[in-house]
Amino acid sequence: MTFSFVKDALAQRRQDNLLRRRNLIRTIEDQQIEVGGRRFLNFSSNDYLGLNNHPQINRALEEGAKRFGASSSSSSLVTGYGYAHQKLEETICQWLNKERCLLFSSGFSANLGSLQTIKNNGVSLFLDKLSHASLIDGARLSSKKDDIKVNRFKHNNVAHLRTLLQASSNDKLVVTESIFSMDGDISPLKEIANAAQQAHAKVFIDDAHGIGVLGEQGQGAASFIDTDITMGTFGKAIATQGAFVACDDSLFEYLINFSREYIYSTAISPATAWATIQSIELIKNEPWRREKIKDLSQVFKNELDSSISLLPTDGSIHAIVIGDEEKTLTVSKQLAEAGFWLTAIRPPTVPKGTSRLRVTICENHNVKDIIRLAKEINKALV
Ligand SMILES: Cc1ncc(COP(=O)(O)O)c(C=O)c1O
Repeated sequence: MTFSFVKDALAQRRQDNLLRRRNLIRTIEDQQIEVGGRRFLNFSSNDYLGLNNHPQINRALEEGAKRFGASSSSSSLVTGYGYAHQKLEETICQWLNKERCLLFSSGFSANLGSLQTIKNNGVSLFLDKLSHASLIDGARLSSKKDDIKVNRFKHNNVAHLRTLLQASSNDKLVVTESIFSMDGDISPLKEIANAAQQAHAKVFIDDAHGIGVLGEQGQGAASFIDTDITMGTFGKAIATQGAFVACDDSLFEYLINFSREYIYSTAISPATAWATIQSIELIKNEPWRREKIKDLSQVFKNELDSSISLLPTDGSIHAIVIGDEEKTLTVSKQLAEAGFWLTAIRPPTVPKGTSRLRVTICENHNVKDIIRLAKEINKALV
């Protein structure tokens, strides 16, 4: 038995070349994976710094499980908040020079749990047009003040942001990403912070793809501006799982009292929290991982045909926009035949007509493989 909409919606997706399927992935080592009995080099992973499976992080995970258990067994406000969580929060506050920090079980819930709670108090939100789904949903989910509009400014367009800010007399929060998840470009953080300051607005940065990757010690957006609120995920460069929101003391107190995602959800695993502290230590002390991403990205750019342009970035994500959904799938299959795993990114993840290959260059790729990949992409697209 199933609802009729299920069949209809899936048939439509199939017809539009937008149907999604999961693949069973077995990681062999570094970025080598096995899918359906075949080996591929993975260029779709978010393990930007190559820290997944790092022996020191794995050891910390094991030690954390022995000392504190695999589960926190409760939400943070009941009995789920322990020493490992406290230490991780302190580590993040020192790293990013923030007063306070609270942990969520994912970046998605951190964005929902903070934006929804803030907007409920009559704060107008100003989101970049290309904001991640979790930011959009967080901004839309509001139980009380549905009359307060969510403003969207054109992608990275500070002049448009200024115009929208000027038109609002409410309390205001500007929301953007440090590195955009599907395009890889970096937002003009300083200009955005200036525009916000002049309009007496606060700034929220989703640092999902910048944390660990940008800045001398991998502090992400906090290396460039003094954000009011930073959201960072652990599941990408930090290579564990969960997320944090860092802010000042008063907002921290407010969120732990009013954020429904925080209050009514089990605290992250203490073993994971302990492993995350170890990962952050490596990130702070091993700048060569960030340098290697830049060097390999430069090789990739040099090797691509001049007709294929990449947006400038210091991050790992490089979007090659193809446009048509069917063609993007075909190119992705062609690359798979050559041994490269690159998931075709299609609507609704990206706007219609902008389907793309999202190439992530990670610390544990090597020059030879990057050159081979660029050659195959040239062959498929030029
Ligand atoms: C910009 C951005 N924010 C938030 C998230 C959600 O983070 P998580 O995967 O930890 O839920 C993602 C994940 O893809 C993201 O790209």
